[in-house]
Amino acid sequence: MDMEAFFALHFDLPREGPGTEADVAWACQLAGVGRNAAMLDAGAGPGGDVNALLAAAPEGSVLTVDSHAGFTKTARARFAGDARVTARTGDMMAQSGPFDLIWCAGAIYFIGVTEALSGWRSCLAPGGAVAFSAPCLFQDAPPEAVVDLFEGYPVPNADGLAAQVAAAGFTLLGTRVVSDAGWEAYYQPIEARIAELRPDADAALVAVLDEAATEIATWRAYRDAFGYLICVVQPE
Ligand SMILES: C[S@@+](CC[C@H](N)C(=O)[O-])C[C@H]1O[C@@H](n2cnc3c(N)ncnc32)[C@H](O)[C@@H]1O
Repeated sequence: MDMEAFFALHFDLPREGPGTEADVAWACQLAGVGRNAAMLDAGAGPGGDVNALLAAAPEGSVLTVDSHAGFTKTARARFAGDARVTARTGDMMAQSGPFDLIWCAGAIYFIGVTEALSGWRSCLAPGGAVAFSAPCLFQDAPPEAVVDLFEGYPVPNADGLAAQVAAAGFTLLGTRVVSDAGWEAYYQPIEARIAELRPDADAALVAVLDEAATEIATWRAYRDAFGYLICVVQPE
């Protein structure tokens, strides 16, 4: 994929994955996040979940980390002047903590659930928790279009995700499916951007726009077959 074209589509969007403020609030409550919690938003993208994290911990702090500098720039601009928020470009697995909560929306599959949880264990404060969302199959046999969408990535079902959590020595406190509203909050701004960019797009950009449009159409057609599951977990 042409990364320049990819970031032309994804520049300055409100979020880079599905989710809602209600998802964050639910996870923070289950994780027992306190008013002054220290939180890492791992793979934060442009910081779309930071306000919801701060709503759960108004006297706390959020460190956003993303490997893409452009997303960090957006997050930094969004929270300029709020001393509770620090936005850094870097590797979400190379943070030291201690954190009361590691929130990771739509980014843990880049590392692998078991591997990421194992790596984050030493970054958690006593009693700390990790809350992450990850692709999940809701049916036994995924439709061909869904297999194609994930390009061979073995999307687990809820039991498979639970096994990956257990393999890291973590306890699963609870799960929640990301709602359709969460997906639309991600996809509708992308659709608007596609419409804006398409008239003047060159071949590389057209390919990126088409791929994004296919992804959106696939989710809308097969949303009963797959989605994102949010898992709140704690070291055993
Ligand atoms: C699907 S996006 C989700 C972004 C954001 N959490 C949201 O929901 O809007 C995944 C993000 O993870 C970031 N990412 C992937 N691997 C990373 C790593 N090892 N360290 C930091 N960021 C990473 C990508 O750059 C991307 O912004």
